[in-house]
Amino acid sequence: MRKNIVIGNWKMNMTREETKSLLTVIKESIKIKNVDVAFAVPYTSMEAALKVIDDSEIALASQNVHQEPRGAYTGEISVEMLKDMNVKYCLVAHSERRKNFGETNEIANKKIKVLLESNISPVVCVGETLEQREKGEHLDLIRTQVKKALADVDMQKVTDVIIAYEPLWAIGTGVTATTEQAEEVCSFIRYVVAEIYGVSISESVRILYGGSVNENNAKELFAMENIDGALVGGASLKPTFVEVINAAKE
Ligand code: PGA
Repeated sequence: MRKNIVIGNWKMNMTREETKSLLTVIKESIKIKNVDVAFAVPYTSMEAALKVIDDSEIALASQNVHQEPRGAYTGEISVEMLKDMNVKYCLVAHSERRKNFGETNEIANKKIKVLLESNISPVVCVGETLEQREKGEHLDLIRTQVKKALADVDMQKVTDVIIAYEPLWAIGTGVTATTEQAEEVCSFIRYVVAEIYGVSISESVRILYGGSVNENNAKELFAMENIDGALVGGASLKPTFVEVINAAKE
């Protein structure tokens, strides 16, 4: 049985004070127990976040990491630094990073490997543009994204990888994929993982949906067999995010 996970992705939002007050409210109103919950907060808010969530089940996630262990990479953050902040999950190849910062499948693959070596779970994002979907290219694209991201990833470690299906046309747009569209692609991703690692491993890998998830549509999405939770942007910036968390399957 896969444990559901709900991850808030705050992107470039939230000062330290805002971080403290929102996480305090959320921590106090989470009801269900058997769900992993994490917040990918900006680096500058990590310390403030830890102060609030330290004594709780809420984990810290990172929005990014550099693929090299150390060196002359001005402005970057290493895996060791994330370990130092007690980070448990790290987003990889979010579509905004693919588009704005040239993050390729090859870079994603390197990041996944360095994270796994340090026991931080990578949350690798895949997804198509509206144009690619309309041309019927989305499943081929997603197969390529998944296969390249997981290239030569150790079989023993792959169940620590989380894959998030985030169609670009649904991110920050208020347009959510229908539950059928989301389930179709998430089950396809599981099939691709099974092609590489076999069915039993694919059944243990957690696959999330992301793209305009909110307190009104979360329950329906989480009811789908192959959707094991969500990666949530805009709706994770408000106290009502707790309703998304509470909608997860226990
Ligand atoms: P959204 O963002 O929930 O605001 O659509 C999701 C994401 O970018 O991970």
